[in-house]
Amino acid sequence: MSARYGYNHNPQKVDTSSNIPGLDLEDDQLYYNTTGSAADYWRDVELPKPAKAIKQLRSDLEEWGYCLIAEGLSKAQYSRMKQRLSDQAAGERKAGIACWTGSAPAPGKELPDVQFLHSLINKGEQFIQCVEHDPEGVQAGPLIEQLLNETVGEGFLMSSFIGIIPNKFNMPQGLHMDESMAPFVDENAPFTVNTMYIMDDLRAENGGTLVVPGSHKILSRRGSENALSEVMPPAINLEAPAGTVMIFEGRLLHGTGVNQLDEERIILAMNSIKPVMRQQELHLLSAKPEVLRNASRKLLYRLGAIPSGLGGIEGVWSGESLVNQRLSMEANAYTRVGELSPTSPLEELAADFGYRHSDIGQSQAPHQQEMLPEIRDRFDES
Ligand SMILES: [Fe+2]
Repeated sequence: MSARYGYNHNPQKVDTSSNIPGLDLEDDQLYYNTTGSAADYWRDVELPKPAKAIKQLRSDLEEWGYCLIAEGLSKAQYSRMKQRLSDQAAGERKAGIACWTGSAPAPGKELPDVQFLHSLINKGEQFIQCVEHDPEGVQAGPLIEQLLNETVGEGFLMSSFIGIIPNKFNMPQGLHMDESMAPFVDENAPFTVNTMYIMDDLRAENGGTLVVPGSHKILSRRGSENALSEVMPPAINLEAPAGTVMIFEGRLLHGTGVNQLDEERIILAMNSIKPVMRQQELHLLSAKPEVLRNASRKLLYRLGAIPSGLGGIEGVWSGESLVNQRLSMEANAYTRVGELSPTSPLEELAADFGYRHSDIGQSQAPHQQEMLPEIRDRFDES
């Protein structure tokens, strides 16, 4: 873990001679710079390339912690999904409900430059086909499902399905294992696995997602509590054409890199978990309204009504109680964000979405630059 700032980026620490606030793209020692010595390190290593044969994909996943499925989406499936995502992202920005998260804001900015699209199952049929691994929507669906069955295990659940859209000079995400949500790591197998749909050609210039190949083995063989005794290799930026589907396991170090281009770039991440990783009873749904209304914060937390990075609703993932969401759903007064586009009628964009009333929705609303003025006037609660 010898990178200068570890594997987390602190934009305030960046040399003020850098011409981009919070980023020094020239510094060879920073984990998000994958040119120079990082590229030299990996130059002669055969890392995974897009492939279709399941034997190759299995062995890449085992050896490197990830594999790349060539043409996971057909051309037609890809174009339809790409259009839907671009439209949805633009529609949410216009509606003033875009969710900006995933890394720190650049110095001097109010919001991060990474837009997330939450709860994709409500935003187009093709996303439901991804969850079901239906070849009508994803031609590699059965292959993806087979690899998930073999790694996270049969009967897996879909934990989240989100779009991640870094814009120019976004701050990089800290490198992390998805399994760091648990205080243990198992050398034998991952307990969570991600499927990533690549919607734009990935390369170093657009921060094509940072991964440290083989880090799943280095981290898991040290066990849960032991310090690392070896130096972690440098990260690479993934390179793969749009339409490729990447599968990476929960022990692999990864994070969003820096997009240096003018165009946004889109990936989708679907997280799968073992079926035991949930509450036996869905208390948030079963509890009587008065139990929730009178509950202490401690009780709400124990019932699963206060998310802690997990267990949220429409991206409301951190710290705030979900009681209002549950009670307004019960009163049929909660509007979920569905399919939107920049050409949606004003009344659809201006709907009184439940997300507008969440802490994150309210705190980001004043800084939503593309929000239509009519919508801003309607919901301005200041
Ligand atoms: Fe992650």
